[in-house]
Amino acid sequence: MSSIPQPVQFGEAADQISRSQPAGPCVLVIFGVLGDLAKRLLFPALWNLARERLLPEQFAVVGFGRGDLSQQQFREQIRANLQDADGRRAGGAAEAEWLLSRLSFVQSDFTDADGYQRLAAALREVDQNRATGGNYLFYLATAPEFFLEVTERLGRADLLRQTEGRSRRVVVEKPFGRDLASARQLNRDLLRVAAEEQIYRIDHYLGKETVLNILVLRFANGIFEPVWNRRYIDHVQITVAETLGVEARGGYYDHTGALRDMVPSHLMQVLALTAMEPPSSFSADAVRNEQVKVLHAIPPLGARECGICAVRAQYTGGEVEGVRLRGYREEERVAPGSETETYAAMKLAVDNWRWAGVPFYLRTGKRLAARNTEVVIQFRHAPLTLFRAASVELPSANRLRVRIQPEESISLLFAAKAPGPRVTVRPVEMRFCYRDYFGQAGQTGYETLLYDAMNGDASLFKRGDMIEAGWSVVTPVLEAWESPLSPLCFYPAGSEGPEASNELLKRDGYQWMPLK
Ligand SMILES: NC(=O)c1ccc[n+]([C@@H]2O[C@H](COP(=O)([O-])OP(=O)(O)OC[C@H]3O[C@@H](n4cnc5c(N)ncnc54)[C@H](OP(=O)(O)O)[C@@H]3O)[C@@H](O)[C@H]2O)c1
Repeated sequence: MSSIPQPVQFGEAADQISRSQPAGPCVLVIFGVLGDLAKRLLFPALWNLARERLLPEQFAVVGFGRGDLSQQQFREQIRANLQDADGRRAGGAAEAEWLLSRLSFVQSDFTDADGYQRLAAALREVDQNRATGGNYLFYLATAPEFFLEVTERLGRADLLRQTEGRSRRVVVEKPFGRDLASARQLNRDLLRVAAEEQIYRIDHYLGKETVLNILVLRFANGIFEPVWNRRYIDHVQITVAETLGVEARGGYYDHTGALRDMVPSHLMQVLALTAMEPPSSFSADAVRNEQVKVLHAIPPLGARECGICAVRAQYTGGEVEGVRLRGYREEERVAPGSETETYAAMKLAVDNWRWAGVPFYLRTGKRLAARNTEVVIQFRHAPLTLFRAASVELPSANRLRVRIQPEESISLLFAAKAPGPRVTVRPVEMRFCYRDYFGQAGQTGYETLLYDAMNGDASLFKRGDMIEAGWSVVTPVLEAWESPLSPLCFYPAGSEGPEASNELLKRDGYQWMPLK
């Protein structure tokens, strides 16, 4: 009789650690602890981890920020944040208190050397009280201009030196650079202060279950991988669509735009997981090596190709369900004549044996008709001569749709005969929804990443060369778009996007999947 298969663990540390065990002892130090990321995502994620019993007894959080708060006021503020947190689950009051009892605050500016001395003293005290063993995870929930400064100051305060049995890691948020040159420079600068193995470049999309499930879908099932190539796949669509506008982030966004904000990070990551070759193991480097290889196989668009294969657009005013929405140029802290794109679409190739000739269409935008992040794998048509003779409506080609947001699901479209005496072929959908099947409670996407970083498992974090490979694809487009000759298209808020983006696919005989 065959034995029951054991669950497979993802990541380098899988041999030693199972994701059902608490993380190893450590102190999490959050820089920018009073900011939006910490409030909406990091603390709720820690709370979720506490509820899942995935935080160890030897654990503490030290917040670093410039708010004028006593220890008690700091804890009260975090308690209030937890109560407001989006997607919070019922119950968990005891775990919230458990977490709050492990919090302390160091009040300092990021640029104040003395603050790092006080941090070092606070860490020594926590090590004594909580037996955290000198293991520190520094989370830079700061604006990007502080990534290097804080890391350098940590180095100068001797907080990054790893000795045997003591881990010192730095989690760096996105955006990592503004283009290829600045990303390279930041990598070089960080590597002067910390080793690559100490740097955890985060992309929170990688903590989403369905993003990881792309790997499991492809490599843990016998039926998909044989057809996952140019012989059977016609084209691929990757969408990250938001209904939100720029909200309070107009000042940041106007200097960034949709391409920089989303493509080198989230879209390239999803593309890499969709198109990469099977890694030789699930160790961090084996997986990341394959991701880099596939990103390197994308030929950068030349200046002329950018005019044909890339679309930039901005939303104008519109109306959704009777509510009038402002145009981008009317948003707060956006220049009235701004040329910044809030929508970007492009057609890319992956020039390797598996994907030659298969177009990858990418689009991302704000103020679109629906919130929708997904990968659509469009398979080739079956030979339909039989049905042509029967003069029935031709069925659609098979389509696999991996949804990442808002709900996490996977569906397969195929043809079925509709009941009745006549041969009528209809497309039908087979659908797996994560929540229905596993009853998964609301997660922020940061739980897995925090847990892995505490355990030193870097599989879901970006290596420096991955970041640079993503920017290599995007930078030529950014440069082409800087030309005054590069057209900016427009689309009404609440719509499916600009017509030029539809044209991009129509020219090849395709159309985007509707967002709704
Ligand atoms: N928020 C999100 O949903 C999200 C998602 C993904 C990635 N990120 C990334 O996460 C990082 C943080 O974003 P955020 O939205 O949390 O930003 P934020 O709300 O502006 O928070 C930044 C925090 O840093 C503090 N700060 C700024 N300058 C400081 C200084 N010189 N010394 C000490 N503290 C200082 C701010 O304090 P004051 O309040 O006193 O100014 C604030 O508490 C960014 O890199 C962002 O791109 C954010």
